[in-house]
Amino acid sequence: MYSDFDRSPAYSTAKGAMFCGDSIELLAKLPDNSISLVMTSPPFALLRKKEYGNEDQHEYVDWLAKFAALVFQKLKPDGSFVLDLGGAYQKGVPTRSLYNFRILLKFCDEIGFYLAEDFYWYNPSKLPSPIEWVNKRKMRAKDSVNTVWWFSKTEWPKSDVTKVLTEYSPRMKKLLEAPDEFYTPAKRPSGHDISTGFSKDNGGAIPSNLLQIPNSESNGFYLSGCKMLGIKGHPARFPAKLPEFFIKMLTEQGDLVVDIFGGSNTTGFVAEGLDRKWLSIELDINYVAASVLRFMSCNHDDDIKKIYEDILNKKHVSIDKLDSQKITINTKKTRKKSPSLNNQTASIF
Ligand SMILES: C[S@@+](CC[C@H](N)C(=O)[O-])C[C@H]1O[C@@H](n2cnc3c(N)ncnc32)[C@H](O)[C@@H]1O
Repeated sequence: MYSDFDRSPAYSTAKGAMFCGDSIELLAKLPDNSISLVMTSPPFALLRKKEYGNEDQHEYVDWLAKFAALVFQKLKPDGSFVLDLGGAYQKGVPTRSLYNFRILLKFCDEIGFYLAEDFYWYNPSKLPSPIEWVNKRKMRAKDSVNTVWWFSKTEWPKSDVTKVLTEYSPRMKKLLEAPDEFYTPAKRPSGHDISTGFSKDNGGAIPSNLLQIPNSESNGFYLSGCKMLGIKGHPARFPAKLPEFFIKMLTEQGDLVVDIFGGSNTTGFVAEGLDRKWLSIELDINYVAASVLRFMSCNHDDDIKKIYEDILNKKHVSIDKLDSQKITINTKKTRKKSPSLNNQTASIF
């Protein structure tokens, strides 16, 4: 499928491949109707410049819409596009930018997406910001919720919420243990009949569209690997639990998951562990090279340094096994696609 690509992946695994490049170019080369899920978090339209660069806020919505139009074309009819967007303030005043809502309306009104559901990612570990309005002048509450728009190509995207059930509340657990003692069947004001149906153990509770996920996870070997190499980790990673939720709910084993703003490749790493095929595209070779650390563990510093440098030097690295103890490393100096790559990664598509 990516035989039309003009380059090899930076690295590939049993299930997927990480490419360095502009996703607008590479995505265009994939066949239409081939992707089950695009899970991504773009560079945000924040007013303070982030290390990874930002487009001007006024142009941001149009800029992102070009990617979205391509995503629409490449998604399968039952495919989904999940977009995590952080909030932002207008420059110099304590009022909010509407850019994330403009994106939502534009993608549905002009590109043809449906809003399957609006999700909100609540990050309890987020530090107060912006400092001026929250900490100094104390005029605004801290902003700790990102909007996560779940777009679908048709009104009927593939989805199974039973794949992401959450733990029952203590009250519900008690009800399941002794339903007769706990509830007198009655109608709630909402009209829900609290009868025996509610005491059936379904293995967990239906999750809500407010996802509480602290962004303070350990990131496995990624951060310690960055430290060992003397480099900084990606400054805007999302927690693995965010892509994990949507990959589990919206795809099945063997489906293709794509991240068009790959960063540290959280999405690809999670997809690999869940036995999905994956493809990640990231513009910055430094982020691409560091992201390979996600697939390693800490025992072989020299091997890891070599892999990292090979990727920086545009040598394709093949990681056959997730377990670093058994990692087999193949490096090949190449800017063009190599025949071995085709054989090895053909299964991705
Ligand atoms: C918010 S970060 C993504 C972080 C990622 N979700 C993670 O967990 O590591 C956005 C990334 O998009 C990359 N980017 C920006 N423009 C791009 C483009 N045209 N094609 C591919 N990647 C791009 C930036 O370099 C940045 O690393």
